[in-house]
Amino acid sequence: MLFLVPVLLASSALGATYTLSDTHVGSDFLTSFVHEAIPDPTSGRVNYVDQATATSKNLTYAMGDTLILRADSTTVLTPSGPGRDSVRIKSVKSYTTHVTVFDIRHMPQGLGTWPAAWETLEDGWPASGEVDILEGANDVAPNQMTLHTSPGCTMPATRDQTGTTATTDCGDSAGANVGCGVHAPAANSYGTAFNANGGGWYGMERTPEFVKIWFWARNAANVPSGVSTGADTVITENWGTPTAYFPNTSCDIATKFGANNIIINLTFCGAWAGTTFNSAGGVGACNTYVESNPSVFDQAYWDIAGVRVYQ
Ligand SMILES: *[C@@H]1O[C@H](CO)[C@@H](O)[C@H](O)[C@H]1NC(C)=O
Ligand SMILES: *[C@@H]1O[C@H](CO)[C@@H](O)[C@H](O)[C@H]1NC(C)=O
Ligand SMILES: *[C@@H]1O[C@H](CO)[C@@H](O)[C@H](O)[C@H]1NC(C)=O
Repeated sequence: MLFLVPVLLASSALGATYTLSDTHVGSDFLTSFVHEAIPDPTSGRVNYVDQATATSKNLTYAMGDTLILRADSTTVLTPSGPGRDSVRIKSVKSYTTHVTVFDIRHMPQGLGTWPAAWETLEDGWPASGEVDILEGANDVAPNQMTLHTSPGCTMPATRDQTGTTATTDCGDSAGANVGCGVHAPAANSYGTAFNANGGGWYGMERTPEFVKIWFWARNAANVPSGVSTGADTVITENWGTPTAYFPNTSCDIATKFGANNIIINLTFCGAWAGTTFNSAGGVGACNTYVESNPSVFDQAYWDIAGVRVYQ
């Protein structure tokens, strides 16, 4: 009897097993991430503040198992002045082959918002690639997952994923910056429906051969136990078909991607949310809306239960 147990364990552990290397929960984020008070690279109507300002204004709040990152929702802005105060944080560490699991209770919501949870190396972008795990604009669901690389990386239109291919050229050709995107199948992967459902988990696995992204809604029946419990090890082979799959068929993932930092940001308008503001139901100019209506941004916050990195 006793001898059977190790045999069964060994067979179930076949495949890629990753071990927890970094746990970011609550106040961990105040030392393992830096607040980037930088000008918005995408021309958003935002003013990214530093950590001292963010904590003193309670835009960043870390306590127990909670990290809140939010935008100012009380100040009317002058059109010639700085944008709306918000927060952008970047992990101190960077990673190559790894798994990141985001446990998110609430994401920024509101017309004009453009939130993102993603990974890249800012220096020399996009030489080390970019993986957008959770991103969208103006509350328009579903989530869009996207790779950005230097030119010469494309994705097959059809591949083993539950999401829908939107664009296939990951390369930053002529500064178009569209990337190769995949739309998640479920509306509750993003924005209002995501928040109404208590959020959920995003998992991303990057190897030299592929990038895979999974989404599990908070109440999904198929959340892997290692994901929901923040276990010390995860076995991605047991996670099922990914929501988005980016294989190396016509993209050398190993050379298109280098070490990436994890970044969580919230901007307004700009290159994505600004250009789609009217089609998403906004009236007038996105910047004017953001300047004049602070209270509509009271739901423009991240509530993050944890970010775990496995290697
Ligand atoms: C926020 O994240 C997205 C990720 O896709 C990035 O393209 C954009 O530059 C970032 N915006 C700001 C303002 O930081
Ligand atoms: C700061 O934000 C947290 C989370 O929303 C809230 O619980 C707390 O009361 C706020 N603190 C102050 C001083 O407003
Ligand atoms: C893709 O990765 C596989 C290993 O999984 C490797 O055998 C193959 O050569 C790679 N293909 C390309 C085009 O790089």
